[in-house]
Amino acid sequence: MRIVLVGPPGAGKGTQAVLLAQHLSIPHISTGDLFRANISKGTELGRQVEEIIRSGGLVPDEVTVAMAADRMAQADAEDGFLLDGFPRNIAQAKALDELLHESGHKIDAVLDLEVPEDEVVKRIAGRRTCRNDSSHVFHVEYKQPSEAGRCDVCGGELYQRDDDREETVRKRLAVYHEETEPIIGYYREQGLVVTIPALAPVPEVTRRALAALPERR
Ligand code: AP5
Ligand code: ZN
Repeated sequence: MRIVLVGPPGAGKGTQAVLLAQHLSIPHISTGDLFRANISKGTELGRQVEEIIRSGGLVPDEVTVAMAADRMAQADAEDGFLLDGFPRNIAQAKALDELLHESGHKIDAVLDLEVPEDEVVKRIAGRRTCRNDSSHVFHVEYKQPSEAGRCDVCGGELYQRDDDREETVRKRLAVYHEETEPIIGYYREQGLVVTIPALAPVPEVTRRALAALPERR
C-alpha cells in the first residue's frame, strides 16, 4: 500500500504516520524527520537545509526529491510506504508520479488530515520533540511524557523545535496554503483523496484513517 499523508503543520501527520505504519507494516517516510536527522548528525545535507528549515521555508525540490527517492528505494518494493510531509508542492507530486511510474507502482490513497487552524497552533505550541529521533513527539497538555522533559520511547531529551516558534509557525502555515494545499486538488482529480476529520483524540483519528483506506492489496 502506498499512502500519502497531507495536512497543515501540526495536524498530527507524524503522530498518525507512526501508528498507521505500524498497523499496516509499511515504512514511515518523513522528509522532515530525515532532514532533522541530517541536521543533528551534522551531514553536508543537514548543513545545506538547516537555515531553510529554521526559517519555515521549503527545501529546494531537487534536494528533497533526491533524498525521498533514495529512501523509497530502500523500502521493500512490494510492501509500499507511508509518505509524511512529501510531496509538498505540485512539482514534487509530479516527480513522485514519475518515480512510481518507473517502478510500475501508483499511490493508493491520499489522506488529508483536516484540523482547524487555531487547533494546529495549539498543537504546535505545546509540542515537545525528542532530540534523538524527531518522530518521538509529545505535548505539554495532550501527550505528556511520564517523566518531565524525557522521551518515553528512548529517554532522550525533549525540546521545542526551532521552527515551532510562533513567527515561524505563521510562515509555515502560509507556505502550506500557498504551496502544499494545491496538491490536494491535484490528487482529487485522480480520485485519491480522503478527508479525515482530525479534531479528535489520537486513537479515534487512527481509526478513521484506517477505515478510509481502500482494501489491502
Ligand atoms: P515537517 O517535519 O514535515 O513539518 P510539518 O509538515 O510542518 O509537520 P509537523 O511535524 O509540524 O506536524 P505534524 O502534522 O507531523 O504533527 P505532529 O504529529 O507532530 O517539515 C519541517 C520542515 O522541513 C518544513 O518546514 C520544510 O522546511 C522542510 N521539509 C520537510 N519536507 C519537505 C518537503 N517535502 N519539501 C520541502 N521542504 C520540506 O503533532 C503535533 C502535536 O500535536 C504533537 O505535540 C502531538 O503530540 C499533538 N497531537 C497530534 N495529534 C493529536 C490529536 N489528535 N489530539 C491532540 N494532540 C495531538
Ligand atoms: Zn526519543
